[in-house]
Amino acid sequence: MNDEFSFNLWRYDGTPGELIPLLQSAQNHFGYIPRRAINYVSAVTGIPESEVYGVITFYSQFRLQPMGKYVVRACNGTACHVSGAEMIIETVQDELGVEVGGTTEDGLFTLNTVACIGCCSLAPVIMINEDTHGSLTPASVRKIIRRYRRNERASNKKMAAGR
Ligand code: FES
Repeated sequence: MNDEFSFNLWRYDGTPGELIPLLQSAQNHFGYIPRRAINYVSAVTGIPESEVYGVITFYSQFRLQPMGKYVVRACNGTACHVSGAEMIIETVQDELGVEVGGTTEDGLFTLNTVACIGCCSLAPVIMINEDTHGSLTPASVRKIIRRYRRNERASNKKMAAGR
């Protein structure tokens, strides 16, 4: 057995209906479900790859791409919705060049939506990793994302200079 797969993902005993826990286990291990995990799950279970792929794409909990370094959670709960969340989400999509659920090509940002972050008085709200940004406007959310990009470039430069 390939070493990278030597974890509990592969305790498959042939029980029908175990595909979901197997895929969850793969995703917990890799952070997403890579192609090689699909191949392996298919080989171990005897379920055709196309079927495994079909299950992965059916359930929104599964990801075929790694998460970005910064996970943007845009709130679309009631308070945020009535305060313009849709426009904020559209702006973030435009600024990042990805749809909800997508990750930027540089691997920096993943955009998701959530039902409520729990700080409705600040609506509309997004979280970027653990940081909350509220009372947003399309202009302010663009600024925030650009600031993350600038900080990222600055820290990459610093690291390159330190080598
Ligand atoms: S609805 Fe957005 S924080 Fe509660």
